[in-house]
Amino acid sequence: MGAPAFGKPIFSCEGVSLSLGGRRILDQLSLSVAPHEILGVIGPNGAGKTSLFEVLSGRYRPQQGKVRLRDEDITALPIHKRARLGIARTFQSPVVPTALTVGEVLKAAREAFSPWLTRHHAEWACHLVGLKVPEDLPAGALETLNRRKLLLACLVMRRPCVVLMDEPAAGLINSEIDEIDAIVRVLAKEMGMAVIVVEHRLELLAAIADRIAVMDLGKKIAEGAPEHVFEDPAVRAAYFDVAA
Ligand SMILES: Nc1ncnc2c1ncn2[C@@H]1O[C@H](COP(=O)(O)OP(=O)(O)OP(=O)(O)O)[C@@H](O)[C@H]1O
Ligand SMILES: [Mg+2]
Repeated sequence: MGAPAFGKPIFSCEGVSLSLGGRRILDQLSLSVAPHEILGVIGPNGAGKTSLFEVLSGRYRPQQGKVRLRDEDITALPIHKRARLGIARTFQSPVVPTALTVGEVLKAAREAFSPWLTRHHAEWACHLVGLKVPEDLPAGALETLNRRKLLLACLVMRRPCVVLMDEPAAGLINSEIDEIDAIVRVLAKEMGMAVIVVEHRLELLAAIADRIAVMDLGKKIAEGAPEHVFEDPAVRAAYFDVAA
């Protein structure tokens, strides 16, 4: 069975190169993702996966290359403008404001984004990600899975068209990873979001990704359906053997 076909990509980068402190971190990297699609990105530690997200989300400006949303060149747009266009991002560490309650975090998220986001939007987002904790609980009391869910709810309530997830399974046990797996599927397959997931937990990506791109030393060294990518000798040499 071939890889499922998706429509025109909504979000892409093309020939992106990034140097930081005189070091080449990303090297002529191109990726794209379509609505309803889950693109997995793997690579050894230091391959440049998080740096790629910094470029895609607008924190770093690449020295070369372009980032596009639909057909618009957004390479020069700052983070907050990209967020308003519907690009959402999660971080490797699920850092929550510990001084606020869960309800206050959700309120701050909706007020920060737009006055038209109501309690209903927040409740809908919590339902979507399966966050079931009392609103008056301090956010700092949440364990990792619920922190990740809370931060995701804060993003999802504004219905982004692109979601970038940096290691959503980090720090979770297998049964919790199944929950993340289900959430990512809902975002892409039911909500139609274009999702890019960076992950070291290959079992998660093998289960949910439509396509996988492999990075090493800032370059994309392979891309394709999971079953093909995991068999690629260059990938095995660069990733599995190193990681084993
Ligand atoms: N601000 C910075 N200044 C200089 N070098 C940096 C900076 N940020 C990251 N790097 C370097 O860029 C390289 C890629 O880092 P990055 O965090 O993007 O890798 P990664 O693939 O996300 O790794 P991991 O799997 O460990 O999260 C690393 O060698 C890192 O040390
Ligand atoms: Mg990283």
